[in-house]
Amino acid sequence: MNDSYLNFVNSPFGARLARSLGLPKPEVLHRYRADQPEFGGMVALGAGREPHLLDALANLVASIGVTSVAHESAGLWVPLANRRGLMTGRFEAAEGGSHGKLAALLFDASGIEDSSQLEPLHGFFHDTLRSLGKCGRIVVLGRPPERCAKPRQWTAQRALEGLTRSLGKEARRGITSNLVYVEHGAESGIEATLRFFLSPRSAYVSGQVVRIGTAGESASSGASGLRHASDASLGSGANDVAGAASPPPGFDWAQPLAGRRAVVTGAARGIGAAIASALAAEGAHVIGIDIPSARDALEATLRQLNGSALAFDIAAPEAPAQIAAALDEQGVDIVVHNAGITKDKTIAKMTAAAWQNVIDINLGAQERIDDALLAAGILRDGGRIVAVSSISGIAGNLGQTNYATSKAGVIGRVQSMAPHLRARGITINAVAPGFIETQMTAKIPLAIREAGRRMNSMSQGGQPVDVAQTIAWLAHPGSAGVTGQIVRVCGQSLIGA
Ligand SMILES: NC(=O)c1ccc[n+]([C@@H]2O[C@H](COP(=O)([O-])OP(=O)(O)OC[C@H]3O[C@@H](n4cnc5c(N)ncnc54)[C@H](O)[C@@H]3O)[C@@H](O)[C@H]2O)c1
Repeated sequence: MNDSYLNFVNSPFGARLARSLGLPKPEVLHRYRADQPEFGGMVALGAGREPHLLDALANLVASIGVTSVAHESAGLWVPLANRRGLMTGRFEAAEGGSHGKLAALLFDASGIEDSSQLEPLHGFFHDTLRSLGKCGRIVVLGRPPERCAKPRQWTAQRALEGLTRSLGKEARRGITSNLVYVEHGAESGIEATLRFFLSPRSAYVSGQVVRIGTAGESASSGASGLRHASDASLGSGANDVAGAASPPPGFDWAQPLAGRRAVVTGAARGIGAAIASALAAEGAHVIGIDIPSARDALEATLRQLNGSALAFDIAAPEAPAQIAAALDEQGVDIVVHNAGITKDKTIAKMTAAAWQNVIDINLGAQERIDDALLAAGILRDGGRIVAVSSISGIAGNLGQTNYATSKAGVIGRVQSMAPHLRARGITINAVAPGFIETQMTAKIPLAIREAGRRMNSMSQGGQPVDVAQTIAWLAHPGSAGVTGQIVRVCGQSLIGA
């Protein structure tokens, strides 16, 4: 759907008018395009005391080919960074003029053990934030507080959330700010996640806290094998990364899902069609599912992607067995539970059928399909499950008791299943979209729709592709250490924040 206000205030006349009237001017977000370089420009690096993630950062900087500049006020950082070949310039070189704008600010706070050591965060962001360009990226790295042995360390690491979320709200201009907690032992598994948060792919993901752990058993024990695109013995050309290990030389970052099979429910239109397209663009064979009445649209979408279409109502009692039978022969690596409906009414006016229908499609069907695919081993070890929740499931919403119940249930499912799936190296995560421009949100009355669109740090709604790219990151072979997480794709919405 079209956001005419955003288009207007980004026209020459509209921009002038907005400036003179003091109206908000949402930025045209810089989104990923296959025909444009994904990374580039200069990244400023800062660190607190004894940063633990320097090797991982050095690898990342070398791998994505950005120029890094170290921030000098962070005492220890410069000599340490130099030793790892991280410092290729001086921060002063990046200041002033549009060419000097920074593409990203990265801060390694992993060594901070006490609130008295938080000061370098102020020094770094105080000096650099104004040099960060439009649609720039902020990523703070720390250790998961709940894994810290000492209360003071836990406290200081937890404090990073307040900083990161505030930076997202202050920076505006399409800038995102996210916090990545890296568990001890998972340092080599950060590349896929950092690539996502530094890329235009995460244009509408801000104010999020993500944890990277060590990978589950079968992923790290090599049951799925450490493979890369040039490994001819695989036949399928699968592009596999075992556990949280760093991808091998030759790993094809442009086609990370090559050789994988992905199922996407609700793929005929909207967010589901965008997910199918994003996964196919990364090399997956996509099997799209949608209701029989959407068969034509489903087939048209999947035909364009060289995928396959299955017309099933996922809530029908026979659907799990039918889907399992259709996938059985070749199995599947990625399952995306996207299909969902709304039947909004305040609870006093809501019929039992409207309640049950929404719970069945949005939640029960996911449980039954996963049970069928897991029990028969059709979802392969090392696989990925990604479910679509909603910020309504986090915050609740007037007129959506059924919908919010189903979407909160999705969150519970992810959190409860993650430990059980670990032994098979299968990850399970959810995305919780905020206001995304689709036919579902087009049905919302104008005034509420306009409020939903603007109440976030980006002052605009997201696009289906924003949800799709987030799911592609969670489905990535390099995301083996990311499980049990809920990632909001909401432009840092104020709702439920
Ligand atoms: N659009 C938003 O702002 C937003 C926000 C939060 C969450 N979500 C969630 O994202 C997902 C996709 O939403 P959307 O906006 O693209 O919606 P949409 O209505 O445009 O698309 C949903 C798709 O799911 C299919 N579907 C519905 N019931 C089905 C069933 N029983 N079996 C098979 N397929 C079925 C529909 O036919 C449709 O193609 C939903 O789970 C929704 O709850 C959307």
